[in-house]
Amino acid sequence: MSQVFSKSPEHFLAFIFLIWLTLHPAKPQFALREADIYQLSLSGTHLLNSSIQFTLLSRNPNKKVGIYYDELQAFAAYKGQQITFYSFLPPFYQGHEESNLLTTSLQGTGLPVALSFGYEVEHDQTAGRIVLNLKVNGKLRWKVGTWVSGRYRFNVNCVSVMSFGPNAPTAPLSSNQAAQCSTAV
Ligand SMILES: *[C@@H]1O[C@H](CO)[C@@H](O)[C@H](O)[C@H]1NC(C)=O
Repeated sequence: MSQVFSKSPEHFLAFIFLIWLTLHPAKPQFALREADIYQLSLSGTHLLNSSIQFTLLSRNPNKKVGIYYDELQAFAAYKGQQITFYSFLPPFYQGHEESNLLTTSLQGTGLPVALSFGYEVEHDQTAGRIVLNLKVNGKLRWKVGTWVSGRYRFNVNCVSVMSFGPNAPTAPLSSNQAAQCSTAV
């Protein structure tokens, strides 16, 4: 086989592409295992200090494709605005049908937020629940046999609903319902 391919690199690329189409890797799956808010406090009208920790279960559903995760950045958002700095997760390799737990601690200090932030949070407290988005942006490479693909961007979005009422304990606010997250590659 190698003789055929050495004569014609175009054929070799076409062959790889055919394998690629046949295997058709499925997107990695993520589920939120736990999220805790330790701090969400405003200084003045719009400077936020935040401390949020979360754990994701990450799974590679593919039987024949491994995944290299590179440049993973996590952050939390509330009503479309970022409420923590980025936190970088260490890169890792995930074998066929393998699962890994990813835990990260997100912080924000003096992070500018919209003037309506305080009002919105108070409103949620009255309603008894707060909804946060926990997000991971990164790049991945697929591994098929010894061949490794180029980098693809991917985004994970997890929605965490936490009970948050006047009678709820102040810190941490926890959500340990196992929410499924959406992934886009
Ligand atoms: C936020 O953090 C800064 C720096 O640590 C501190 O000076 C400030 O008092 C904090 N504000 C609140 C509301 O916790």
